[in-house]
Amino acid sequence: MNQVGKMNKMNKMKIPSLEECNSIIEEYKVPEHIKSHIAMVRKIANFLAKKISKTEKEINLDLVDKGALLHDVMKMYCVENNCRHTEEASKVLSQKGFPEFGKVLEQHGLDEVNQFDAKTLLEAKIVWYADKRVNHDKLVSLIARYVYLKNKYGSESDKKMKQIISTEENAKKIEKEIFELAGLKRDILEDDLNG
Ligand SMILES: [Fe+2]
Repeated sequence: MNQVGKMNKMNKMKIPSLEECNSIIEEYKVPEHIKSHIAMVRKIANFLAKKISKTEKEINLDLVDKGALLHDVMKMYCVENNCRHTEEASKVLSQKGFPEFGKVLEQHGLDEVNQFDAKTLLEAKIVWYADKRVNHDKLVSLIARYVYLKNKYGSESDKKMKQIISTEENAKKIEKEIFELAGLKRDILEDDLNG
C-alpha cells in the first residue's frame, strides 16, 4: 500500500473524542487507582508514539492516546461482573460506534502478543507494550513487570505460569521493534515522560 493509501486507511478508523472517552470512563466508574495506572500507561505510550512520529514511519497519535486512555476502562467492571476486560472493552466500544478502535483495546491482553503479526497495528503494539512497563502507576522495566506477573499470577497455577512465560520472548521482540522505530538507544526514563 502506498503512503496515501496507508493514510486513508488510518484516517478511516473512528476514534472517540476526549469528551466521549471521559464519559465512558464516568459511565463505568473507573476507580482512582486505575485512573493513575492509565495516566502512566498513557504517558509512556504517547512518549513512544511521538518519537516514532518524528521519523518516516506513519503513526496515528490519536489512536495511541485514546487506546491508552481507554485500555483498562472495563477492568473494575469485569472484576465485579466476572468478564474479560479486554473483550468487554471491545464490545462496549463497538456498541458505541467504534468497532475497529475497540479491537485495539481488545489486543492489550498479555497473551495477545503471541498473536501479533505483520497486520497488527503499530498503535496496538504500543498500547500493549506501554501497559507492560507499568506496575500499578509506576514505570518499571519489562523484566521487572514479568517478575511481578510471575509472582502474583504465575504462582496461582502451573498453567498460568506457562501462559505468562509463553509471552516473554515476544514481549522482548515488541520492545526491540518499538525502540528501533523510535530511535531509542537507551531505556525510557521517568524524566522523558514529563516533557
Ligand atoms: Fe493496564
